Amino acid sequence: MSTIPPRFMQELRDRINLSEVVGRSVKLTRAGREFKGCCPFHNEKSPSFYVNDDKQFYHCFGCGAHGDVIGFIMQNGNLSFIEAVESLATQAGMQVPEQTPQEIARSKTEKSLYNLLDDTARWFEARLRDNAHRDALTYVRERGMSEEMLAAFRVGFSPADSQALPRYLKAQGYSNAQMIEAGVARASTRGGEPYSFFRDRVMFPVPDRRGRIVAFGGRVLPEHLRPVAEGDSKPPKYINSSETVLFHKGEMLYGEPHARQAAADGQTLIVVEGYLDVIASFSAGYRGALAPLGTALTEEQILALWKMIPADQKIPVLCFDGDDAGRRAAARSLERILPLLKPDHSVRFAFLPNGEDPDSLIKGQGKAAFDAVINSAMNLVDFLWTHHTMGRTFDTPEERAGLSKALDDDALRIPDQSVQHYYRDALRQKVRTSFRTPFNPGPRGGSGKWQGKPNVVPTGVTLRRPAFSESRIPLQILLACILNHPALFRDIEDEFGRVNFPDDRMGALRQCILMVLGADEEGLDSKGLAAYLMQQGFETELKMVLSDAIYVHAGFARPNSELDVVRKGWQDTVSLIRRKSVGRELQAAAQTLAGEFSDENEQRMMALHRSNRSDET
Ligand code: UTP
Ligand code: MN
Repeated sequence: MSTIPPRFMQELRDRINLSEVVGRSVKLTRAGREFKGCCPFHNEKSPSFYVNDDKQFYHCFGCGAHGDVIGFIMQNGNLSFIEAVESLATQAGMQVPEQTPQEIARSKTEKSLYNLLDDTARWFEARLRDNAHRDALTYVRERGMSEEMLAAFRVGFSPADSQALPRYLKAQGYSNAQMIEAGVARASTRGGEPYSFFRDRVMFPVPDRRGRIVAFGGRVLPEHLRPVAEGDSKPPKYINSSETVLFHKGEMLYGEPHARQAAADGQTLIVVEGYLDVIASFSAGYRGALAPLGTALTEEQILALWKMIPADQKIPVLCFDGDDAGRRAAARSLERILPLLKPDHSVRFAFLPNGEDPDSLIKGQGKAAFDAVINSAMNLVDFLWTHHTMGRTFDTPEERAGLSKALDDDALRIPDQSVQHYYRDALRQKVRTSFRTPFNPGPRGGSGKWQGKPNVVPTGVTLRRPAFSESRIPLQILLACILNHPALFRDIEDEFGRVNFPDDRMGALRQCILMVLGADEEGLDSKGLAAYLMQQGFETELKMVLSDAIYVHAGFARPNSELDVVRKGWQDTVSLIRRKSVGRELQAAAQTLAGEFSDENEQRMMALHRSNRSDET
C-alpha cells in the first residue's frame, strides 16, 4: 500500500474534475446531472458509460466498469496506483509528497496532534471546575449553559497563567514543537518556553466532522469580572486558533458533528453566527445549528452543508441579523451561493429582529420567538426579489426594465442550466404579476404615473417579517398590551380612544374593548376579556394580535410582563404612532409601497423597540 497522505489524495480529488479527465479520451455529452459517452473499456456503438462529477465516479452499464478518477487513469492508461497519482498530480499542478521517512513520521505527528488537542480540551474542561476559576463557571452558567450543554460542547476554561498548559502538556510527553504546531501555544520571542495562546478565556473546542478536536475559540470574561484597566485596549472578545495542519477555518463549521447527526435525523441545518448561538439553538432543540468560525460563509462551507444533508432536498437556513448590515451580508452571500446552485440544492434566509442574535432572542423571548424567525425564512427566489425591490419604486418603464435586467443578471450567474431556467421563469413571473397594472394618464391631470395598484407589490413575497412591514403592527401591539393586561386600561383609556385605527376589524375590536372595559366595574382579567371578545366574534383578530409575530417585536406586550414594563412599552408605541413625521412617512410609504415600511421607518421602529428592551433589563 502507498503511504501517500490522505490529505494529499483528498486535495488532488478536489482539484480534479472527473468529467474533464475522462473527457480527454472519451467524447462526453451532458445527460442531466451526469455525462455520458461510449465506454473506453469495451467496444460499443451507443453510449452506456456515465460520469458523475458530484459523486466523482464513472459507471458503465454495458461492461460494469466502475471507479473514481484514479481508477480511470489506472485502467485507461494501464498504470500503477502511484503512477496514476503522479500523472494526475502533474495535471493538477501538484507535487506528490515524497515517501520519505519524514513523511511517514509526519502522519504519525498528525495523529499525536489530535491527541494533544484532545488532551488540551479535557484539561480546559477540568480547569472550568477548579475552585480558583469559579467566576468562569458562574459566567457560563449565567449565559444559560446547562451541565448537559457544557458536556456536549466540552466547554472549558484556560487559566491566565501562560505556563500552566505548556507545563501540563510537557508532563504528558508532548514537545514544544507539537504544542506550537497544534496552535495551543506560541513560541516565545525572548527565547523562553512557549506560552499558552489562550489565557483567561472560556474555551470552546472546535471538533471536525468526525468529532476530533482541531482548534479552539476562546471568549474573554465580561468586563464586570475582568475590568479593563484604564489606558489598556480592550482584548478581542473572541480569539480563534490560527490555521494549522489540522484546522482549515474556511472549510469547517462549529457544531458539525451534532449538526450532521441532526441532519441525519431529518432536522434542518441552521447557520448562525457564533459559538454561543450554536449552543443556545441546540439547547432550544435546534440540533442542526452550526456557525462559521468568525468569517463569512465560504463556498466550501456551503458545499459542506449540502453534503451533510442526506435528504433529497438540501436547504439549510442561513440566519442573518435583521439590520441593514445583516441584509447586506445576506446579499453578499448570494454572490457565493448562486454559482453553486444545483437541482435540489438551495438555501433559505432567516432574519433576526434587530439587535438580537439567536442566543439573546432565545434567552430573552423564548424558543417560540426563534421558531418564528426560522419558520419565516425566505427562499432564495423571494430573497432575490426582495433584495432588488425592497424600498424602491418602479414608476417608469425604465425602472421596471432595470429591475428585470438586474434579476436576469442574477439568474444568469447560476451555471446550472436547469436551475437557471426556472429562476428566470420565476423572477419574470414575479415581474409580470407585480406590474400587471396598465399605464394610463390617471385622474390627476396626466401626471404620467402608473396608476391603479401600487407599483411595488411583492406578490407572494414573504418579506422578512411580513407582519412588521405593515403599518398596522404598532396598533396590534397596543391591542396585545391591553388584551394581556386589562389592568392597564384605566391609565390609558383616553389615549387608546384617540389613537387612529383604520375602519376595519381591528378598529372594531378596539371599539369593543373600549366599551367593555369602559363599563367594567369589577376588574375583568385577560381571560374574561378574551372570552367576551370571542363571543363577539373576534377570534381571528385575537389570534393575530396575541401571537409571536407581534411579541417578536414587542416582548413587553407578553402576558407575563410586569405592568410597568407594559406601560412603558405602550407609551413608546403610542408616541411612535403619534410622531407626525413617522405618520407622514408611513402614509407616503403606504401609498407607494403598498403598506410597507420604508427601511428608515422600520429602523426607527426597531430602534424604539431596542430601547424598550434595554430599559426592561
Ligand atoms: P459576536 O461578537 O457577534 O458574538 O461574535 P456575541 O453574540 O456578541 O458574543 P457573546 O454572545 O456575548 O459571546 C459572533 C462570532 O464571531 C466571532 C466568534 O466566532 C463569535 O462566536 N468573533 C467575534 C471573533 O472571531 N472574534 C471577535 O472578536 C468577535
Ligand atoms: Mn451573543
